[in-house]
Amino acid sequence: MKDFATSPLTLGIIGAGIMGRGIAQIAASSGIEVLISDTNTAIMAEAVDFVHKMLDRAVEKGRLDAADADSAKHRLRTVASLADMKSADIVVEAVVENLQVKQSLFGELERIVADECILATNTSSLSVTAVATACKHQQRVAGCHFFNPVPLMKLVEVIGGVRTARPVVQQLHAFIRRLGHTPVQVRDAPGFLVNHLGRGLNTEGLRILFEDAAQVHEVDEVMRDCVGLRMGPFELMDLTGLDVTCPANEQIHEQYYQEPRVRPTPLLRQRYVAGVLGRKSGEGFYLYDKGARVEPERAPAPPLSKGLRLWVSRDEAEFHGRIIALLEQAGVELDRGGKPETGSIAVVTPLGCDATTACLAQGLDPGTTVAVDALFELDKRVCLMSSPATTPAALNGAWAAFAASGRAVTVMRDSAGFIAQRIVANIINTACDIAQEGVARPEDIDTGARLGLGYPRGPLALGDDIGAHRVLAILEHLQSLYGDPRYRPSIWLRRRAMLGLSLLHTENAGGGSEHA
Ligand code: NAI
Repeated sequence: MKDFATSPLTLGIIGAGIMGRGIAQIAASSGIEVLISDTNTAIMAEAVDFVHKMLDRAVEKGRLDAADADSAKHRLRTVASLADMKSADIVVEAVVENLQVKQSLFGELERIVADECILATNTSSLSVTAVATACKHQQRVAGCHFFNPVPLMKLVEVIGGVRTARPVVQQLHAFIRRLGHTPVQVRDAPGFLVNHLGRGLNTEGLRILFEDAAQVHEVDEVMRDCVGLRMGPFELMDLTGLDVTCPANEQIHEQYYQEPRVRPTPLLRQRYVAGVLGRKSGEGFYLYDKGARVEPERAPAPPLSKGLRLWVSRDEAEFHGRIIALLEQAGVELDRGGKPETGSIAVVTPLGCDATTACLAQGLDPGTTVAVDALFELDKRVCLMSSPATTPAALNGAWAAFAASGRAVTVMRDSAGFIAQRIVANIINTACDIAQEGVARPEDIDTGARLGLGYPRGPLALGDDIGAHRVLAILEHLQSLYGDPRYRPSIWLRRRAMLGLSLLHTENAGGGSEHA
């Protein structure tokens, strides 16, 4: 077998659409001979033209040498029939997402290419194992899941089906690295790694909305300002379009046999059916006017009233310190007693509990208690939560006090876990399950989240930063308050929280990790 890292290689690409042409561009630029084929000859010509233009643009921007661009163009050839793929060392198919079409294509290709030629599918949702069943030599079939746009998205999931041979997977890793991309090893499973992991953000965002605990923009703002995501779940769904997100969510839920962790919310399908798809339809979770988002109205912070005094719970010493520091900076009068004095507004800092449960557990007056999320970044935004009993005066007082610190304030309704705690715990829990099931190794899960989903930190590293015991506490409270198995903690998380081990670094486990 050729060494895919160094030997001259010929890559066949079937399907010259969005993905096929992107793969062609990076392969030709990496010194690989590319044969491109499509049932639609006009699209084939269009793809070559597209790649040429992209290479010219790279030269104009000084990112590519003119001579290198010229060589890359010469490495790209269209072929008239599948029979011309005979010389390919590897074929990547990027045709329509249809199992029968992909199976019959691979069945036909197998009769044309050499025995050692690798057949890779770029499918984003079909089982690689199922695609391979049309082949006599299923060990040569694997998934090679590129992301759109291919030149910019540096991640590629290399997916091994049930019968995929190890050397085939290794060759694909070498091939991907040669393209300047980063491979992650993934076992064939619904949603593979990235699409499964991505459900944590949007399904929990939708649950918060469904429960009417917060509005669309409030969820997005908290996830951007407090967690550091580039986009909140609703901004992301509007960009992707519900025509993609709704079927993807439903499919993963079904393929995991109705696993409650990835259960979609009814309002997702309703909006999809109504055609409220997102940016592409001019209306999604937000409204768009000539492509620009129409910003929802935000209520201004109430004024600071005279005699305002806040007491902060000492239930979590670290959180107490953070909130006191913020309120001192705001110049707000503090009640530093062991119990709140009459007239003080009590601030509690729960983990995974709602304001109702937190204030009753601490024996506080529900009418004058407000909850604040002290787990995440407080530099830009503070998220407050009231219970159904909190008086408007107490809520407005707390709101004004935190606004006086110069932070934006989000005021949500009572919810077990605040916006960020709920969503982040779900993302980490999903990552833990993926690690537990051996779908991907812990470090690959975090790489997939950073490069495939654009998260600033991988979920397992984030879980370690927060503390596995805290993530576990959030999920346990969510599960007990809602009674929903959706929140049951992954055994990967529970064991490591109990043992005080890292979620990410399995080498810490003296007896060896559960998955090599
Ligand atoms: P596309 O619709 O842009 O291109 C598909 C191309 O395949 C078309 O040019 C079509 O003429 C051609 N084609 C269809 N049947 C064929 C056949 N039997 N033989 C040869 N050519 C055939 O589709 P796109 O978006 O490039 O997707 C291709 C594959 O990549 C799908 O499996 C999709 O799920 C997957 N994918 C797509 C991503 C995206 O964001 N568009 C991201 C990751 C994977």
